[in-house]
Amino acid sequence: MSLRGGHLLSLDTVSVEEILDVLDTAESFVEVHQRTIRKVPALTGRVVASLFFEESTRTRLSFETAAKRLSADVISLAVASSSVKKGESLRDTIATVEALGLDAVVLRHRSSGAAEQVARFVPHVHVVNAGDGQHQHPTQGLLDAFTVRQVLAERRGVTGRETGAELFRGLRVLIVGDVRHSRVARSDIAVYRRLGAEIRVVGPGTLAPDALAKWGVTVSHDLDEVLEWADVIGLLRIQSERGSGSFVPSLEEFSRHFGLSTERLARVSPDTLIMHPGPMNRGVEIDHAVADAPQSVVTRQVANGVPVRMAVLYLTVAGGEGR
Ligand code: CP
Repeated sequence: MSLRGGHLLSLDTVSVEEILDVLDTAESFVEVHQRTIRKVPALTGRVVASLFFEESTRTRLSFETAAKRLSADVISLAVASSSVKKGESLRDTIATVEALGLDAVVLRHRSSGAAEQVARFVPHVHVVNAGDGQHQHPTQGLLDAFTVRQVLAERRGVTGRETGAELFRGLRVLIVGDVRHSRVARSDIAVYRRLGAEIRVVGPGTLAPDALAKWGVTVSHDLDEVLEWADVIGLLRIQSERGSGSFVPSLEEFSRHFGLSTERLARVSPDTLIMHPGPMNRGVEIDHAVADAPQSVVTRQVANGVPVRMAVLYLTVAGGEGR
């Protein structure tokens, strides 16, 4: 099923043309943020359900902001105080929300494959995956690619739309940390590979095992060896909620070998982009000063979550029609 008028479940099945469709549409929505009235009527009369079965700050707030900027009605389930706590299943919860009348579900869930399951339960409802277990976080991958293109295009004095995928060809992307448990890593790798970037992952053997090479990336276990190679450095936190803590001897040791310290930052080019999907564990995978350094685009990533998620909702729910 295509993205326009369909679902967004994983970036593994999205074409280059669809990725560029999202990035270009998001670029046009950035301007809405500058307006006095930050709204467009694209989803007037549509209902978007925001169902977060796992914790979130950035993704939830930016999806709900995005839906409201598109003039959709947003219903939001507070899972902690819902009947999920009484044992109601995902299927029955979705059926209940559907009975209220809805056009789209934005779903975060701890189980890999949950978004695909929901798309089968309610096939006529548009489903957008806001992170499922360690499987995929497609809108994070899209907003990361959007941010990279935006910054590189600005440096050239052109718009991202004018460059298409050109700026990604041969771009050297280094992903550092707990790749094994990271849905962000899977989505980032999918989007950057499709756009033509070269990708290396680096981390301890337990969290970046050599088996990851089957994803089409080069695997390394020595950050100092590959640090200066990168045009983009994407840092990942230790996913303690998925048991990653038991894969490293201690956070101090992880940080010593794989943390981006101010000393390491001094070795990279001032043009290298430092990225992190958040939440950051300052002092572990990223030093406090590095998070706020001029090369850091972390805040821009968060801000870009809104136009990118507006684009995804507009393309899936409205099929890209009627702005
Ligand atoms: N990047 C990300 O998914 O952050 P949240 O968990 O805060 O949504």
